[in-house]
Amino acid sequence: MKPIEDLSCTMVVFGGTGDLTHRKLIPAIYNLEVEGLLPKNFAVVAIGRRDLTDEDYRNKKYEGIKDFSRFKLDEAIWNKVKDRIYYKKLDFTNAEAYNELAPYLKGIDTKHNTGGNRIYYLAVAPEFFGNIVENLDRAGINHIKNTWQRVVIEKPFGRNLESAEELNTKIVNVFKEENTYRIDHYLGKEMLQNIMVIRFANMLFEPLWNNRYIDNVQITSCETVGVGSRGGYYEKSGAMRDMIQSHMLQLLSLIAMDKPSNLDPNTIRDEKVKVINALKELSEEEVKENVVRGQYGANNNEKGYREEERVAKDSETETYVALKAEVENARWAGVPFYIRTGKKMPKKSTEVIIQFKLEEDRLYFNEDELLPNTLVIRVQPMEGVFLQFNAKEPGTRKKIAPVHMDFCQNCQVGINSPEAYERLLYDVMRGDATLFARWDEVSASWKYVDGIIEAWKNDRPQFPNYKSGTWGPKEALDLLDEEDRKWLEV
Ligand SMILES: NC(=O)c1ccc[n+]([C@@H]2O[C@H](COP(=O)([O-])OP(=O)(O)OC[C@H]3O[C@@H](n4cnc5c(N)ncnc54)[C@H](OP(=O)(O)O)[C@@H]3O)[C@@H](O)[C@H]2O)c1
Repeated sequence: MKPIEDLSCTMVVFGGTGDLTHRKLIPAIYNLEVEGLLPKNFAVVAIGRRDLTDEDYRNKKYEGIKDFSRFKLDEAIWNKVKDRIYYKKLDFTNAEAYNELAPYLKGIDTKHNTGGNRIYYLAVAPEFFGNIVENLDRAGINHIKNTWQRVVIEKPFGRNLESAEELNTKIVNVFKEENTYRIDHYLGKEMLQNIMVIRFANMLFEPLWNNRYIDNVQITSCETVGVGSRGGYYEKSGAMRDMIQSHMLQLLSLIAMDKPSNLDPNTIRDEKVKVINALKELSEEEVKENVVRGQYGANNNEKGYREEERVAKDSETETYVALKAEVENARWAGVPFYIRTGKKMPKKSTEVIIQFKLEEDRLYFNEDELLPNTLVIRVQPMEGVFLQFNAKEPGTRKKIAPVHMDFCQNCQVGINSPEAYERLLYDVMRGDATLFARWDEVSASWKYVDGIIEAWKNDRPQFPNYKSGTWGPKEALDLLDEEDRKWLEV
């Protein structure tokens, strides 16, 4: 790891007055300082359209840290952070305005001795990503010799393969792939980073991690909340684009990848992208059989999706997807990967469940007694690993019962797992792109997802088809039922 002195930089946040900056980015900066990880030579320049002084902005962020930081606000630490935060009013769609931004940023670099290294964080609506990058380039803002210049792009990266390609061309023309950090904040979560360690640092799991021993894999990410105030965005996105294309396929690739030959970011991402490229493409008929989409309807006092703010009364946007994916390679042939994600579910949880096969050559014949071994990787809100296996019940009767080993990472007193954004911002400063999506991963995911969305166009959904607070449409249960399996309790 590079020494902290090497990380000197100015972080320029486009969207500095936005929700993401308020709830995640500034609290993450504060928490990095608490952990002693923030470089000494560091400054934040937040860009927005509102009329604010530096002091006004700092006061607002002080409140944000109080509300959203994982460490309680400590005045002494805040005093060390606040004087490194600046606010700049600027309309980022106005190319002329960047001529004024260039000398302003140079002034901040000099004042904070950052050496001219910069992170440009685009915490703005996706339609502005390309335009901001081009404006930065046109004004020469990112042309500083002997420095590093990196751009961080929030999701969603495009809304299909074509628009993602267009956006990517604009960005890598200016920043090149190695300086482009496409955020998928799921990758910054503790347990996602732990998946590789659990798999590749334990003799117990990796030898069994294949179609000989694994019956099926279930990946679930569900939330209890609905679309809230994000109806405008969600109407154009839906669960397939918002969750499956990014977070869920990233999770799947970590679970299914082969062991990389080393821990270099590109070697790891080479293995991940192979998984996405090996996903079986679904024909229109196969989409009907293997993909279920849903939209929540009203239930008691809970609103249906179509009653939400900025949502069309006849919206066909899906708030739920369940699908069966297959990875076509020697390791996984014949093993279904069941993926589901939804809003207004009974429980908030992200988990991966690996269900092993029952032993073929069984010594204990009473089928009722034996349950398959199950390994559960809990990503959020609980973090940990749960393993179910069979053991003899105490007593004289020969009865077998499932028992559990449950490692709860965030249950122990004093464990306060870092927020994903802390880890990710720190990695951008260090120049470590392992936890960011590379272009070929993004494009392969879009290719897979586009195929499904295309097939949906010829088949109008009967929405709403599940009630708020339930586990999604019945067809999602049938998807597994038909194969004599069931969604395991999460
Ligand atoms: N919020 C989240 O939890 C979250 C989670 C994951 C991903 N994201 C992604 O992060 C990005 C930002 O989301 P958000 O929720 O923070 O959005 P937001 O609250 O709507 O903030 C938008 C920001 O853009 C600024 N802006 C818009 N037009 C501008 C212009 N012409 N010139 C200068 N500034 C302008 C706004 O400034 P003013 O308000 O001063 O006009 C505001 O700071 C999106 O791509 C979103 O998909 C957000």
